[in-house]
Amino acid sequence: MQQVATAQSQQYIGEPLIAVEHVSRVITTRTQKTVILDDVTFVVPAGSLFAINGPSGSGKSTLLNLLTGIDRPTVGRVIFAGTELQAKSEDALARWRGTHVGIIFQFFQLVPTLTAQENVLLALELGGGLPRSAWRRRAQECLEIVGLGAFGRRLPSALSGGQQQRVAIARALANDPPVLIADEPTGNLDSHTAAQVFATLASLTERGKTVVYVTHDPRLAARAAARIDLLDGRIVAQHNAGAVVAEVQR
Ligand SMILES: Nc1ncnc2c1ncn2[C@@H]1O[C@H](COP(=O)(O)OP(=O)(O)OP(=O)(O)O)[C@@H](O)[C@H]1O
Ligand SMILES: [Mg+2]
Repeated sequence: MQQVATAQSQQYIGEPLIAVEHVSRVITTRTQKTVILDDVTFVVPAGSLFAINGPSGSGKSTLLNLLTGIDRPTVGRVIFAGTELQAKSEDALARWRGTHVGIIFQFFQLVPTLTAQENVLLALELGGGLPRSAWRRRAQECLEIVGLGAFGRRLPSALSGGQQQRVAIARALANDPPVLIADEPTGNLDSHTAAQVFATLASLTERGKTVVYVTHDPRLAARAAARIDLLDGRIVAQHNAGAVVAEVQR
């Protein structure tokens, strides 16, 4: 495994927040066994802009689903800010996810019949962390963070792709999770809009968020302070993501 570290990028990142330890994901059917992730070990430093880079089919989305507890590893474990995810029940994981991670998808996944503000309000309602009386103010605050303070009453169909993805970022921020996880967040946008949306996402690290994003674009991967490169379910290179960097928080 290749390890590259520069003083410049290390100054932006903190202690390990997520630890992935010897994780494999194997799908077994009656006729065959498919290894999708093979002995993957890395850490995500707190406050980092973290890239999971690799070509199509390398296991990036599968790995994200393990980080969010949507899926469980076949072997190994994921420790998220001291919590061992696979020790939790499905119900406990769903509750945990609501307040610990904000998820951003390639195709935005906004509810088309709800306005931008209502999409964010829905996340607040599902998250359950704030009293109802505080929802509207929080939704507006999140829209302002992504530069859409004046667009709350618009339906997604009246917003550009980049604006829709920024609403999705606002929604991911609603319950103030420490970590945002994005699967190809700019994959459906033209290059100019993609650069703007990426800048919005990257700027969240200045608010103390840890931002993990999947990409197959080497230029976007190069923007990260820390990263892993996946190929055929294995880590083939990493930068500031070494499991030996520091002891993982427990
Ligand atoms: N439930 C499943 N059953 C069998 N194979 C699967 C399953 N889920 C994923 N795979 C396979 O695992 C590999 C990795 O899939 P994954 O979706 O994680 O790749 P990816 O890196 O996100 O690709 P892309 O860039 O195209 O989104 C692929 O070959 C895929 O076909
Ligand atoms: Mg994918």
